[in-house]
Amino acid sequence: MAKIDLTIYPEHRDRAVQRVKERKIIIPTFAQMRNPDLIPSKVKEELASIGLWDVHPRNLFRISWHNEPKARGGGFGGVNYFELPSSLTGTPARIIGLVGKWFPTGAHKVGAAFGCLVPRLVTGQFDPATQKAVWPSTGNYCRGGAYDSALLGCQSIAILPEGMSRERFEWLEKIAGEVIATPGSESNVKEIFDKCWELRRSGQDLVIFNQFEEFGNYLWHYNVTGHAIEEVAKQILGPKDTVRGVALTTGSAGTIACGEYVKSVFPGSKTVASEALQCPTLLQNGFGSHRIEGIGDKHIPWVHNVKESDMVVAIDDNAVVNIARLFNEKVGRDYLVSKGVPEAVASQLDLLGFSGIANMLSAVKMAKYYGMGENDAIFVVFTDSMELYSSRIQEYRQEMGEFTAYDAAATFGRDLHGESTDNLLELSEFDRKRIHNLKYFTWVEQQGRTYEEIQALFMAHLPRDAALFNEYHALLVMVGKDYCRTVPRCDGCPLRPDLPAGGPRPLGRRPLRPTRRRTGG
Ligand SMILES: Cc1ncc(COP(=O)(O)O)c(C=O)c1O
Repeated sequence: MAKIDLTIYPEHRDRAVQRVKERKIIIPTFAQMRNPDLIPSKVKEELASIGLWDVHPRNLFRISWHNEPKARGGGFGGVNYFELPSSLTGTPARIIGLVGKWFPTGAHKVGAAFGCLVPRLVTGQFDPATQKAVWPSTGNYCRGGAYDSALLGCQSIAILPEGMSRERFEWLEKIAGEVIATPGSESNVKEIFDKCWELRRSGQDLVIFNQFEEFGNYLWHYNVTGHAIEEVAKQILGPKDTVRGVALTTGSAGTIACGEYVKSVFPGSKTVASEALQCPTLLQNGFGSHRIEGIGDKHIPWVHNVKESDMVVAIDDNAVVNIARLFNEKVGRDYLVSKGVPEAVASQLDLLGFSGIANMLSAVKMAKYYGMGENDAIFVVFTDSMELYSSRIQEYRQEMGEFTAYDAAATFGRDLHGESTDNLLELSEFDRKRIHNLKYFTWVEQQGRTYEEIQALFMAHLPRDAALFNEYHALLVMVGKDYCRTVPRCDGCPLRPDLPAGGPRPLGRRPLRPTRRRTGG
């Protein structure tokens, strides 16, 4: 099954080329995003007079983990990362976070948007001159998409839930052509998808870049974020250190693709997929609303390669909110310093937005569960910073009262150093299949994917393991012999729960060809 459609539409593509020429746009390659040494010096000279957040096409080259951390005229250096000391995390394991704040838009999701947009642009499947780009998201992805669209001079529609932080809306008003707020908050993705269907039916000429099902999202993180982790690991880890894996909360499950890359370069490393305890979909097929903005949407994204996830953890959003206050209130930082956290670390803790804090806690759970020590390294991502949530800190002050030294001590002891190994599951093949099967309810029942596609998606990710294939083969033979007989014995068939409604197909007929719905407009 082709995961990224590369069918070429010559007429549209010619128009896209024309548009890019007119606007003097240069589209960077993934290789340049991975390694800024490959960026032409002429581009670097131009960037010296361009601000990080400016709507300027050359900023496409700043969709990179290597941006010099400054607001104007920065060049490129090593990957931006921030290591959290054990005085802070309460575990001797090394927890290292890539810093998303220094991407244009203040979050690395602008890269995921680029990963979804570019295949459509270079094939002519999206015509920036005549079509609108639609970016459904819970916040940062649609900001990234609106920004990428603005750089390409095309019209965009950003869709996000009305309950997301005020900062996101204020910024989008300036960049996106249209902003649509859908009912609910963080975990109300179904309402976003419903809006996409409404737009499709509206007759407007548009292309929907749905990050939850576009493999460009996964691909960008596999290649660019995964490589950035490798680079930091090779730079800072000593000969006795081991990369034990990545721990990441999932929204569209694009970022977690870096775990698959990390496994390919550090064999034996593991990937932990994390979510909010108040919305435990991966852990318990559960649902609910929560306050960790950017993650956990009551469904399993089409692109989540569950075969590569090794563990699921759920993080209590109360702990995340308390720690956000500890990290961003003066009383909290003073307390941390009094407990031995270096001043230089305490003063930078606003680099972690809510999901960054949840990622840190996921890594702590992973470290404690496996009993990791000082030579074990776990990588996380700090997707965005508190810059995008300062209104929330004010709101919590009003809602919960001033943050006192007592609150700081309680949060430190209970939520940070007290983080335990509860709400955690090491995934067996059975668990992976259960999580993958949940995709059915969103993607086949609601979004027009087919039964055959969902099966193919799982098969494509089976490990190349002869013993496993032999077992599958033997099981299929057994099912054929015992159940799919001339007179089918469907009662008691182990595949029955997975089969489409309507009973067995009459023998001797060719199966119907699956219909494939083209997404995106
Ligand atoms: C703040 C924040 N954290 C985490 C994520 C999750 O990343 P991904 O969608 O790649 O799983 C997102 C996604 O939008 C986000 O905005």
